[in-house]
Amino acid sequence: MALAVTSSSSTAISGSSFSRSGASSESKALQICSIRLSDRTHLSQRRYSMKPLSVESHSRNESWVSRASTLIAPEVEEKGGEVEDFEQLAKKLEDASPLEIMDKALEKFGDEIAIAFSGAEDVALIEYARLTGKPFRVFSLDTGRLNPETYRLFDAVEKQYGIRIEYMFPDAVEVQALVRNKGLFSFYEDGHQECCRVRKVRPLRRALKGLKAWITGQRKDQSPGTRSEIPIVQVDPVFEGLDGGVGSLVKWNPLANVEGSDVWNFLRTMDVPVNALHAQGYVSIGCEPCTRPVLPGQHEREGRWWWEDAKAKECGLHKGNIKEEDGAADSKPAAVQEIFESNNVVALSRGGVENLMKLENRKEAWLVVLYAPWCPFCQAMEASYIELAEKLAGKGVKVAKFRADGEQKEFAKQELQLGSFPTILLFPKSAPRAIKYPSEHRDVDSLMTFVNLLR
Ligand code: ADX
Ligand code: SF4
Repeated sequence: MALAVTSSSSTAISGSSFSRSGASSESKALQICSIRLSDRTHLSQRRYSMKPLSVESHSRNESWVSRASTLIAPEVEEKGGEVEDFEQLAKKLEDASPLEIMDKALEKFGDEIAIAFSGAEDVALIEYARLTGKPFRVFSLDTGRLNPETYRLFDAVEKQYGIRIEYMFPDAVEVQALVRNKGLFSFYEDGHQECCRVRKVRPLRRALKGLKAWITGQRKDQSPGTRSEIPIVQVDPVFEGLDGGVGSLVKWNPLANVEGSDVWNFLRTMDVPVNALHAQGYVSIGCEPCTRPVLPGQHEREGRWWWEDAKAKECGLHKGNIKEEDGAADSKPAAVQEIFESNNVVALSRGGVENLMKLENRKEAWLVVLYAPWCPFCQAMEASYIELAEKLAGKGVKVAKFRADGEQKEFAKQELQLGSFPTILLFPKSAPRAIKYPSEHRDVDSLMTFVNLLR
């Protein structure tokens, strides 16, 4: 890695991982991120001595640091050699305000911590940091696919706070390879993970290698499926920090316990810049092709990667939120407790589902959940599905379940549109093809509306 400090008030970063021979001048331009610290505010004065984010070269075969291995090293050594128990600290801070949490985070990690800013309501993090009166750093992953409004917001935030956001860019060679092989919109075909890995996760990994801690705007209420348990502070279960190795990075989530509406009240009260897309119905904002506005009452995550299922909606930045069992369908033992047990829910065999698929004119419509009993998302919808089955009993719609993990999984993926668990299908009375329930709202009313509109 080459790191050049060009003057006391400006810093240029260039990474060897970017400057591979054969890279075009265009790509080199992309690869050079320069930070010119403004001297307009007190913040900038105090930030001159800060090191820029790491742009160390990285392996092209990066793999996730295994979760299992992170579990054996839950403590991080702080300055002065003391070991901090972050689980304890998280408990202690459970009722603390975001301002207190931010203050604690900045106090503990100084210039070795930075706010991960994606430009939507993350402005709240910056505002809290400002209110602490301590110096702070901000970085953002510029995927190259953000909305124009998001870039405008970046600029407005830099001006308002007198800061320079430390942008991280994807490796141009990797982007080229992806786009030349698969086109610009491959994520609609085969999922967003690959593009996110190139454009977001690897740049994030590089950024974090230059830090000991990071601060995110994650909230529990953002995603009932994947974020409901995020702690205020934790040893990062996935990424490595400056010192390298398992447990070398701490992740702070000062807004974990704050509800979305309260973040918005705060932003309005403090009169800070926000993304203009919010006024057009966008709530959770990521890259332009993978974000859309949501309707009143829709959950904010439904506007992200809407063509995929709920569980898949962690792009990798916060992959630690996904528990092992969520993705490990085939390795689960069969002896877990059965779910959706009710007289009103028919348990279908493979043959039963195949028959249902063959029929063109069914006597009744069928609602079928493809499930795995160990899946927490399936467990979470059990009560509402059983209640729905009770309500629909004798009303011309049969309610059923088909266990689609293990050896049935391939079949379910090929023939039954299974993406992840649970997948809910309606076989209408007179249409041959099953219709997949497209929403993450799995409450009785939402499911009932779907059934009544399409049966
Ligand atoms: S994502 O994983 O689904 O994209 P989300 O948009 O909910 O994440 O944002 C959660 C937090 O992740 C943000 O508050 C921010 O701290 C961090 N984050 C998300 N996207 C970026 C980005 N492009 N650059 C830096 N941080 C980001
Ligand atoms: Fe690519 Fe979409 Fe992920 Fe952005 S959000 S990196 S465009 S897949």
